[in-house]
Amino acid sequence: MRKSLLLLVALMSAGCLLAQELKPISLPQPQTDGGRPLMQVLKDRKTTRDFAADKLAPQILSNLLWAAFGVNRPDGRRTAPSAMNRQEMDIYVATADGLFVYNAQANRLDPVLAQDVRAATGTQSFAATAPLDLVYVADLSKAGSGPDAELYTAADAGFIAQNVYLYCASEGLATVVRGSVDRVALAKAMKLRPEQKIILAQTAGYPKK
Ligand SMILES: Cc1cc2nc3c(=O)[nH]c(=O)nc-3n(C[C@H](O)[C@H](O)[C@H](O)COP(=O)(O)O)c2cc1C
Repeated sequence: MRKSLLLLVALMSAGCLLAQELKPISLPQPQTDGGRPLMQVLKDRKTTRDFAADKLAPQILSNLLWAAFGVNRPDGRRTAPSAMNRQEMDIYVATADGLFVYNAQANRLDPVLAQDVRAATGTQSFAATAPLDLVYVADLSKAGSGPDAELYTAADAGFIAQNVYLYCASEGLATVVRGSVDRVALAKAMKLRPEQKIILAQTAGYPKK
């Protein structure tokens, strides 16, 4: 009994250490001068559910996140609109290395959990093995209290998801936005606060050959 208690304490402290070890990841400057012509990209925009397991190159990840919801003006406004510019959406980034949150102002991934939570981000099996699952989480404390506040969070997530679709179409990447998420289980796995609400998830990666 005493031995198993000691083992449990040792395992728990190992877990804490692991969480502390996850460091912020500075992303390369996003390349904002590339990409294919918009009309061709729209022509190619589509959902794909077959992903290679290969990690996305840091530059591609940086570009993708900037396209999704990066800062594109000196006043801090973003590549996707948000109702009343509330910018209530956080993009959580789940990879094999752990869970991060995209810090658009600093162009950085801030560590959240030293755990691979990709499987919990969706009900479809590819979520567990694709290199990148994004989770769009609204912070309701920033979303205002009007009657349409929650409705707007869904719209705001939709714009971000479409930006990712367009970036992926431009770069020949595969992506699928997903509403099929066990939100209660995922919120628990991500250790979200009560005022944080999961709106959508989106998987992206290189297409399976
Ligand atoms: C709000 C929303 C939720 C979606 N949820 C899922 C999902 O849970 N799983 C999935 O495989 N595709 C999901 N999709 C992708 C749609 O199935 C896909 O967009 C649709 O079949 C049209 O295909 P297209 O994107 O290639 O035009 C979702 C799309 C939207 C807009």
